[in-house]
Amino acid sequence: MNKNDYRIRLERKEDYSEVENLVRESFWNVYRPGCSEHYVIHVLRDDPAFVKRLDFVMEKNGHIIGQNMFMRTVIDADDGCEISVLTMGPICITPELKRKGYGKALLDYSLENAAKLGFGAALFEGNIMFYGKSGFDYARNFGIRYHDLPEGEDDSFFLCKELIPGYLDSVTGIYRTPQGYYVKDSDVEEFDKRFPAKEKLKLPGQIF
Ligand SMILES: CC(C)(COP(=O)(O)OP(=O)(O)OC[C@H]1O[C@@H](n2cnc3c(N)ncnc32)[C@H](O)[C@@H]1OP(=O)(O)O)[C@@H](O)C(=O)NCCC(=O)NCCS
Repeated sequence: MNKNDYRIRLERKEDYSEVENLVRESFWNVYRPGCSEHYVIHVLRDDPAFVKRLDFVMEKNGHIIGQNMFMRTVIDADDGCEISVLTMGPICITPELKRKGYGKALLDYSLENAAKLGFGAALFEGNIMFYGKSGFDYARNFGIRYHDLPEGEDDSFFLCKELIPGYLDSVTGIYRTPQGYYVKDSDVEEFDKRFPAKEKLKLPGQIF
């Protein structure tokens, strides 16, 4: 990868099916047998919390090789306030170009643009090994807790990055996952019929 062999731009309507296929290929059998993320983005684009100005695709040689998107959500602060934040994802890079730096380039570009739009922080579930390189830390270090997680449970999947330094300085509270991310398995199954058949495999490392 070099800085000139890709372009990042906003997603257009005519990209939708190509992007959904890319997301399906990228997530298939990674976290569970099959995946739901291609349906999730299909649904989220119509959600009022979806941030159209942060809906990015990455192109190389005229093909879309990556995508990333954001949703508005809130932290329910312990003092009763709602603190506006972003959540992110799905984000993906086509399987054949993984681990070449494209994911980090797309992530950093997206976060820079989110900061330019004035968003204060981004929080989501992810792997610190990847997101840590772009400045994410465990959300617990910012005083933010994950909803429905019993005291003492491992919360190292829950990450945060301030886009405005100090934005969460005086905040403690619970992050709210936007409802749009919760999709029904039966709806995923139905949507998946629009794509070429693919084998679902139970593999080591899957978390669901
Ligand atoms: C996660 C994903 C977007 C990362 O994109 P990528 O282009 O492969 O990542 P990069 O090459 O930019 O990685 C930068 C660094 O992050 C770290 N990293 C990336 N993916 C990692 C992984 N799965 N595990 C551990 N570290 C990882 C590595 O240190 C990497 O540098 P290195 O390859 O020199 O060691 C991509 O692998 C992907 O689409 N995965 C499937 C879908 C997915 O899991 N999406 C994220 C859901 S939270």
